[in-house]
Amino acid sequence: MIASRPNLLGIQRAIKSSGKRAYHDLVTLPGQKPVVSQGPPGYSAVSGHVVTVFGCTGFLGRYLVSKLAKMGTQVIIPYRDEDEARIFKPMGDLGQIVRMEWDIRNESQIAECLRHSDIVYNLTGRDFETKNFDFKSVHVDGAERIANIAAQSGVSRLVHVSHLNASAESPSKFYQTKAEGEERVKAAFPTATIVRPGTLFGYEDKLLTNMAVWPIWWKLNHGQTKIRPVHVMDVAQALANLTSIPQLPGTLSLPGPSTLTYEYLLGLVDSITLRAPSRAPVLPKAVASALAKAAQSVWWPALSPDEVIRRYIDDVDVAGDWAAVGMSEPSEIENHAITYLRRYRSA
Ligand SMILES: NC(=O)c1ccc[n+]([C@@H]2O[C@H](COP(=O)([O-])OP(=O)(O)OC[C@H]3O[C@@H](n4cnc5c(N)ncnc54)[C@H](OP(=O)(O)O)[C@@H]3O)[C@@H](O)[C@H]2O)c1
Repeated sequence: MIASRPNLLGIQRAIKSSGKRAYHDLVTLPGQKPVVSQGPPGYSAVSGHVVTVFGCTGFLGRYLVSKLAKMGTQVIIPYRDEDEARIFKPMGDLGQIVRMEWDIRNESQIAECLRHSDIVYNLTGRDFETKNFDFKSVHVDGAERIANIAAQSGVSRLVHVSHLNASAESPSKFYQTKAEGEERVKAAFPTATIVRPGTLFGYEDKLLTNMAVWPIWWKLNHGQTKIRPVHVMDVAQALANLTSIPQLPGTLSLPGPSTLTYEYLLGLVDSITLRAPSRAPVLPKAVASALAKAAQSVWWPALSPDEVIRRYIDDVDVAGDWAAVGMSEPSEIENHAITYLRRYRSA
């Protein structure tokens, strides 16, 4: 009798379909709890990580959650407004997206939101102050509260999103509080990764789309302010990559690849929307500030007085840390602007 030879391919297939785990499914990164990944790659996978994204309902947060969920990560979605949280449901497989209501002032709710997580992202931020929340209460007190509770709860990793221009010496209160928030986060959670992106562009941005609607506000300083715009997808990818990179304490700057003036960007917007350049006058800073102050009580959210100050501040000239997050240079704004601006063309 001839013994039949074992079919190796068949055995491998059988092991895979039986759901047995392989050694490489165990991920142990220094300074992080070991996690076990399983399942097929993509939407239905399980990366083994449980991640909380505070500020997930914002512009950057939505792309980050989508990228994390696609990697098979279970994502806790702290939300304030039920409607804002709805969009996340189809981003992950059943049970992968967990919504939890929260208030940035409520410590027990924050603790509940990050209780099971090994990685916590804090993306909360405000472009303008409201009667309930000023910049300090979100960028400083809120950030410190999250960092403290994350440290007490034994979270392995905290990623705090600040701004490229964060500086205690800045004339803008927004940038000052971002800098103070960074210091408080570092004191509470010494191994935290601070991420400083440049101005983001994308579908729901406050740059290209705002320029197409309100060019007058971008002519301040004769359009000579220089910024380093960065694609929201690139920053979201960089943040998502951090889940598989060992601890990276310190500050990472993520500016765009080019330094551009508002004048250049307004020209880019006009060339894509096929509109004649705006003939709106260049407002003096004092007039713009007074109008912004008055607008706060009439129309909300309008351009805030602090945003007027920021329109005169150039982005800092630092090298990008893209290589540290496993990425080459980010994309140029000219390569994507048509996608976001086509809808502003007249019929
Ligand atoms: N957009 C940019 O160009 C840019 C550039 C550099 C850095 N950043 C920073 O990157 C982060 C994300 O930016 P983004 O453009 O995604 O901001 P965004 O669209 O304004 O979203 C801000 C997020 O913070 C939350 N938040 C604000 N105030 C809060 C409060 N009092 N309590 C609880 N949650 C609060 C918002 O929640 P609700 O939806 O409930 O309001 C939202 O999820 C921010 O920290 C921002 O400062 C942004």
